[in-house]
Amino acid sequence: MDDVTTDQLVIRAGDPGDVAAVLSLLDGATRWLVARGRTGQWGSASHSGNPRRVAQVRRWATDGDLYLAERSGVPVGAIVVGDAVPHVPRATEPELYVNLLVTDRAHAGEGIGGRLLDHAEELAREQGLGLLRVDCYAGDDGALIRYYESQGFTATEPFTVQLVNRLWPGQLLERRLA
Ligand SMILES: CC(C)(COP(=O)(O)OP(=O)(O)OC[C@H]1O[C@@H](n2cnc3c(N)ncnc32)[C@H](O)[C@@H]1OP(=O)(O)O)[C@@H](O)C(=O)NCCC(=O)NCCS
Repeated sequence: MDDVTTDQLVIRAGDPGDVAAVLSLLDGATRWLVARGRTGQWGSASHSGNPRRVAQVRRWATDGDLYLAERSGVPVGAIVVGDAVPHVPRATEPELYVNLLVTDRAHAGEGIGGRLLDHAEELAREQGLGLLRVDCYAGDDGALIRYYESQGFTATEPFTVQLVNRLWPGQLLERRLA
């Protein structure tokens, strides 16, 4: 299912024409994080100025892994689903993995992230899968872990990623699909 419409929020499959919108959502979220001193998660540089990130978003958009949430035709959130990233423990059963989730900071508190996660769950169910996993930044006060727990995910394994000059702490979470 590519289009889900409920009270003005439309979730649709993304395409290469959405790359600029996704980068803009990511840049907005980074500015928001920086303003709160939360630079440990994504640093402070723009995503749109990072050629590797731009190429990654293009790939997601081209491969059919990207979904956009829109209000009145304006992108207000994005989610990317697919295979798990290599730096987390492998699942012991077939799964769908959330590779990216971001919402427009002007629409914070509207539950758009939750709607996108529910859409990912629906996609997983359509594929006959029983497991949805996601990972997130585990540093600072662990607020992002609490966000995913509030969305019905359970924390499983913590992990770390070696960046150029520091260790990036991550947390894997899962939502089991009954
Ligand atoms: C995570 C996200 C997609 C959730 O979207 P949403 O459903 O619209 O939810 P909100 O933006 O209202 O955020 C919910 C709560 O999580 C907190 N939160 C969200 N992202 C956070 C982050 N990266 N670090 C710390 N806290 C965060 C918010 O401050 C808010 O807390 P509150 O309820 O105490 O006000 C969205 O907040 C976002 O884009 N965050 C920045 C980018 C990000 O971290 N993406 C997830 C990467 S794993």
